Amino acid sequence: MNDLDQLVGAAQADFAAAATPAELENAKARYLGKAGQVTELLKGMAALSHEEKKTRGAEINQTKQRIEALLTARRQALAEAEMQAHLKAEALDVTLPGRQHGVGGLHPVSRTLERIEAIFGSMGFEVADGPEIEEDWFNFTALNTPADHPARSMHDTFYADTKAPDGSGHLLRTHTSPMQVRHAVQHVKRHAAALAAGQAMPEIRVIAPGRTYRVDSDATHSPMFHQCEGLWIGENVSFKDLKSVFADFFRNFFETDDLEIRFRPSFFPFTEPSAEVDIAFASGPLKGRWLEVAGSGQVHPNVVRNFGLDPERYIGFAFGMGPDRLTMLRYGVNDLRLFFDGDLRFLSQFK
Ligand code: PHE
Repeated sequence: MNDLDQLVGAAQADFAAAATPAELENAKARYLGKAGQVTELLKGMAALSHEEKKTRGAEINQTKQRIEALLTARRQALAEAEMQAHLKAEALDVTLPGRQHGVGGLHPVSRTLERIEAIFGSMGFEVADGPEIEEDWFNFTALNTPADHPARSMHDTFYADTKAPDGSGHLLRTHTSPMQVRHAVQHVKRHAAALAAGQAMPEIRVIAPGRTYRVDSDATHSPMFHQCEGLWIGENVSFKDLKSVFADFFRNFFETDDLEIRFRPSFFPFTEPSAEVDIAFASGPLKGRWLEVAGSGQVHPNVVRNFGLDPERYIGFAFGMGPDRLTMLRYGVNDLRLFFDGDLRFLSQFK
C-alpha cells in the first residue's frame, strides 16, 4: 500500500468516526482544507520534475476524488441517521384511530314501534297520538269502567290533584285504550254531517302506540311501559277480521309463517267477548311455547255509545299489545328492565 492509499484509508476511518456533521466537517478540513493533508501533498509537488509532476499530480487528484467521494457518502449517511432519529423522536402513530363523534341509534323499543306502525300502515291503519297524563273519563269511565269497578284496582297508577273539565281527576294513563275514545270521538265529529244524513261513515281503523304507567316492577314489568292500541269499527267488522289482522301482523313482524295464534277467553270491561291473544313459534328457541302478546275483544256497546255511535249499527274490535314484550321476543332479551336502564353497552348493540 502506498502513501496515497494509506491516506484514503485514514480519511475513511476518520470520517466513519465522525458522529455528527460538525465532526465530519472538522475531519474534512484535516484532509481537504487549506492546511489539509491533500493540500500539503499538492504543495510538495513543487520540488518534482516535470514528468514526475504529471504522474504524481494525477495520483493525488485521484486520491482527492476518492476522499471527496468518501466524504459525500458519510455526509449522506449522517443526514439519513439524523432524519431517522428525528422521525423516531416525533413518533407519530398514524395507525391510531381518529376521534369519532358517536352516531346514535334508535332505541330497540322505538324500532319495534316503527315496525308496528309500518305494518299496520300497510293494512290501512292510521296512527294516532294522545296524552300520557289522561283524564279519568277516558282512561276508565268511558271504557265502561266506572269509579267503583273492581277492574280499576289492577290499574293502580299516579294520580294528580288537578281536575279535568268533567270534575274527575288526572292520572298517568294505565293503558292506551283511552285513545279508542279520543280518536273515535274525533272521527265521528269529522263525519257528523254524513252520520246525521244517515249515510255510511268511513270505517275507523287506527293504532295508537305510546307510553303507559302502572305500579308494577319486576323482570317483565316496568312502571313505565309501552302499549299499542288498535281499533277497527265499521258496519260489518267481526272477530274474523281481528284474527286475520293479527295473523298478518305477527307473521310480518316476526318474519315467519311458522307461527300459530290462539285466542283465550278473557275479561275486559270495555270488550265483550274478550280474548287474550297468544302466539307460538313452530321453530327457534321459543318453539312450541304459548306467549301472551295482546288483549283484545269486540268493543262493548257502552263504549261504542261513548264514541257517539249507535252500537246497533256500528261494531268492531279493539286490541292492546305490548311492544316491549314484542321487542324482548324479537331480540331474545329476557329482562325488560334492560330497555329502560339507559346502559349504552346494552343499547348500542341494537344500532
Ligand atoms: N287495555 C287492555 C290492557 O291494558 C288491553 C286491551 C285493549 C284489551 C283493547 C282489549 C281491547 O290490558
